[in-house]
Amino acid sequence: MKLTLKIWRQKNGEAKGDLITYRLEDVNPDDSFLEMLDTLNYDLILNGEVPIAFDHDCREGICGMCSLFINGRPHGPDRGIATCQLHMRRFKNGDTIYVEPFRAKAFPIIKDLVVDRSAFDRIQQAGGYVSVNTSGNPQDANSIPIEKTVADAAFDSATCIGCGACVAACKNASAMLFVSAKVSQLALLPQGKVEAPSRVTNMVEQMDAEGFGNCTNTGACEIECPKGIRLIDIARMNWEYMKAKLTLSKS
Ligand code: SF4
Ligand code: FES
Repeated sequence: MKLTLKIWRQKNGEAKGDLITYRLEDVNPDDSFLEMLDTLNYDLILNGEVPIAFDHDCREGICGMCSLFINGRPHGPDRGIATCQLHMRRFKNGDTIYVEPFRAKAFPIIKDLVVDRSAFDRIQQAGGYVSVNTSGNPQDANSIPIEKTVADAAFDSATCIGCGACVAACKNASAMLFVSAKVSQLALLPQGKVEAPSRVTNMVEQMDAEGFGNCTNTGACEIECPKGIRLIDIARMNWEYMKAKLTLSKS
């Protein structure tokens, strides 16, 4: 396949970036998008040029590290997959493909296509966990019956890989789909209910402090999420947050 790539290059967070054109003459349709970039980087290095920086790790849709904005959409043209699961056969011979970083104030560019998503880590650290009793006499988890529909809903929320596509897709750069998935996976289960009020309060406050925008129910996040996280989680987070405000203000 012959392709023209317009790739965002930017030396660092302070430098001015630009779209640079690369013409590829012999792209293997069965290569993944990241393998195509690997090949391009190999050629750049052979020519003494600086390779393109981009994030990746597992390359199988589970780590959330890959983060490219391809032809105006996070993770490219298909639904339900991360960038690492996108293959070049999805494009046509002669296509021009625009490749940019995820853009959001709370995701500052580090270099080229790599952005700093540590804001997500700080939100998780603010409350995305359950405290575990390690006194030596913990209750057997299997002795707490959980309805299958509830367990399934918690599992669905827990599939969020923290990629940030929801933020990149949102006109407000809102992180509410991500945060609500992390709140929901715990709030739905008995083990998560003990700390639920402080968890949701701390996570929402950290989300706001990081500079993410608010949700205006556009739904682009749900469309672009590679893991099918749904807006119902945002509704649940808002409900949990209101309950927490009433509970905590009384205590
Ligand atoms: S909610 Fe979806 S798009 Fe957002 S971080 Fe999680 S997996 Fe990525
Ligand atoms: S590299 Fe891990 S999800 Fe894409």
